[in-house]
Amino acid sequence: MRTTLATVIAAMLITTGAGAAEKPGQLAHGRYLVENVGMCGDCHTPRGAMGQPDLQHPLGGATLDFRPTVPVPAWAEMAPSIAGPKALGWTRAQMVKFLETGVTPDGRESLPPMPRIRLKRQDAEAVAAYLSSLPAPMAVTKASAVGQAPKP
Ligand code: HEC
Repeated sequence: MRTTLATVIAAMLITTGAGAAEKPGQLAHGRYLVENVGMCGDCHTPRGAMGQPDLQHPLGGATLDFRPTVPVPAWAEMAPSIAGPKALGWTRAQMVKFLETGVTPDGRESLPPMPRIRLKRQDAEAVAAYLSSLPAPMAVTKASAVGQAPKP
């Protein structure tokens, strides 16, 4: 009986997603990597009229306000939203894999200026946990993000 109850509780934890609970310190480590090492917000956080980061929508997706001075084939002008548990429609595991390999779930490599990212597993999990903990920017679609960034 005891085993059965434990099994049921374990199953509940897994199905409610509580199984993905953050390890102690993981969110802080992820935040540190995002804000102080990867500088993800430089490209992924939208900017206000004065060029200031829009902290209401951290990593909520933005049109880049810089361009290369030499021709770069396939330059991406838009950094998508990577905030929230369902960012990009990816699962947490897919985000971790991308952060480890730089390859998207559909087998693509990101266009420049997205750096080719290769984190070790522990760091990838921390970054994915932190990104997932951010509010999903419901209102920031590709179109509205374009409106927020100054035209280059
Ligand atoms: C120099 C600008 C820049 C920085 C810094 C940057 N990104 Fe990006 N990121 C981009 C651009 C541009 C794209 C879109 C690439 C594309 O469309 O292929 C992108 C795409 C992505 C994607 C989606 C993958 C894809 O290609 O569709 C993820 C996830 C991502 N970035 C995560 C991050 C994380 C996490 C960091 C920080 C560790 C980061 N990025 C730092 C510019 C940047």
